[in-house]
Amino acid sequence: MTELKKGVLIVFEGIDGAGKSTQAEILLKKLDELGYSVVYYREPSESKWGREIKRKAQFADSLTPQEELELFQKDREENVKNNLKPSLERKEVIILDRYYFSTIAYQGAKGIDPESIRKRNEAFAVRPDLVFILDVAAGQGLERIEDRGQKDMLFEREEYLVKVRQLFKSFQGDNIYHIDATLSIEHIARQIENITLEFLESVTS
Ligand code: ADP
Ligand code: TYD
Repeated sequence: MTELKKGVLIVFEGIDGAGKSTQAEILLKKLDELGYSVVYYREPSESKWGREIKRKAQFADSLTPQEELELFQKDREENVKNNLKPSLERKEVIILDRYYFSTIAYQGAKGIDPESIRKRNEAFAVRPDLVFILDVAAGQGLERIEDRGQKDMLFEREEYLVKVRQLFKSFQGDNIYHIDATLSIEHIARQIENITLEFLESVTS
């Protein structure tokens, strides 16, 4: 088992259908093969708040943007406390499918001030070491997952995701990597693997 000096948090972000789950799974397998102690979590999580989000999401517009925000925040508080912090203390590598960047982008696109969402999250949520933002046009992301939604909802969803994508594109920081998600799955996986392995080497004991 490869020992690390500290736990590492790697986050995958992007609009629906960008390829987050695909890339998260490939990286998980790779790091496991290389002998890292690696775990996978996703948000919305399996907490009672995460389950409530998924139940309510079946009924479009059953929540106001503010109510929606509060549920995602409560779910994240549980995920940070029950999953992320304990894993980092055990010096594991965490692969996390969506985090607070999704809240800034998705709830920001519904009219809530993005800066206030960012501040609220940075006050309690552990900072990620690497953030991969997979970028694809809203229409292309939706085409990839067409069977997940009803056709008549797609136009409205696309308009919304155009705004979400713009917010994702605006995020900057030395731990943030914008990845062209229109490339092949293998090509993207290699880029992500290179960046990740270089980072992990810098924290290997
Ligand atoms: P997300 O988790 O971001 O919603 P998924 O990883 O579930 O997206 O991918 C959605 C669909 O798109 C899947 O059918 C997947 O096989 C496909 N896919 C993922 N990445 C690519 C890519 N780079 N090129 C083409 N298809 C892709
Ligand atoms: P998810 O289960 O990851 O869906 P998908 O596999 O289609 O990407 O997320 C469910 C939805 O929740 C997704 O449309 C993004 C949205 N979401 C927010 O609006 N705010 C948030 O803070 C998070 C974590 C997700």
